[in-house]
Amino acid sequence: MRIDVVSIFPEYLAALELSLIGKARQDGLLQLDVHDLRDFTTDKHRTVDDTPYGGGAGMVMKPEPWAQALESVLPADESRRPVLIVPSPAGEVFTQAAAHELAEEEHLVFACGRYEGIDERVLDWAQERFTVRPMSLGDYVLNGGEVAVLAMVEAIGRLVPGVVGNPESLVEESHSDGLLEYPVYTKPSQWRDKEVPEVLLSGNHAKIARFRRDEQLLRTLRRRPDLIARLDPGTLDKADKAL
Ligand code: ADE
Repeated sequence: MRIDVVSIFPEYLAALELSLIGKARQDGLLQLDVHDLRDFTTDKHRTVDDTPYGGGAGMVMKPEPWAQALESVLPADESRRPVLIVPSPAGEVFTQAAAHELAEEEHLVFACGRYEGIDERVLDWAQERFTVRPMSLGDYVLNGGEVAVLAMVEAIGRLVPGVVGNPESLVEESHSDGLLEYPVYTKPSQWRDKEVPEVLLSGNHAKIARFRRDEQLLRTLRRRPDLIARLDPGTLDKADKAL
């Protein structure tokens, strides 16, 4: 997978050189390039923002540096349409389902806005060249798109085949089946005044599976009733319903 990130703070993205994503880059599974938006300005001050038409607080990102930057990452083959992800609190919510969808793409481009956002005409212009997806991490406001890109690249990148060494670890994690994941424990079996649930020491795989499933359902019910409400009833077995 190819990933391009455009930002006025390229240093912010240095964390993508670490850990699993850093290793995937070294191994050639992810080709990730970070571009400084200011390299696409033409004035002495490398200006990327200006005051908003219509008035109001803050500054808006100027369209031309964005068009230049985005043109520079377009593939030579015009039939290929990269997905342009624009992190914004006004976007659709980025979920695990979106991460799976985006992990299938050949080329992702992230446009990190700052200030009050990017001139809307850039998104209109980009529709002709990219599949444009404004995406939000959640219902809160960050200072810019960079932190959101760190989260999204990690969530998407780990789903690219080969990036996570043991693909089985992707199967039973939170959100893979619409539920939160079950609690986990390791040695020692007694720690301070706390014990590991006895069933996990029993060796009875059917009982362990049932215990974990119950814990998933209870945890999701308590912490995220919205997820329970969205669950496909067809995925619930008899024992789930009895709970
Ligand atoms: N930029 C600012 N706030 C954001 C959010 N909640 N999600 C994604 N990008 C953002």
